[in-house]
Amino acid sequence: MIKPVNEIVCHCMNITASDIRSAVQTGRTGSVREVSQCTGAGAGCTACRGRIRRMIAEMQDQPSLAAPICSAR
Ligand code: FES
Repeated sequence: MIKPVNEIVCHCMNITASDIRSAVQTGRTGSVREVSQCTGAGAGCTACRGRIRRMIAEMQDQPSLAAPICSAR
């Protein structure tokens, strides 16, 4: 299920669904490791890595979500 943009995905690092989506949309990330390197998400207790993995999979399954946002073009 698509997460609301302001929902905290990584509580340790206070990273939102929007932060993760932006990282994936700009094409800088395509894996949990890359999202972690780009945003810091998952760099603490690692409990959120499954949520991050599911978000990436959802975005890859729905190309409109993974497409770059206008400000990133
Ligand atoms: S919740 Fe993301 S590292 Fe702990």
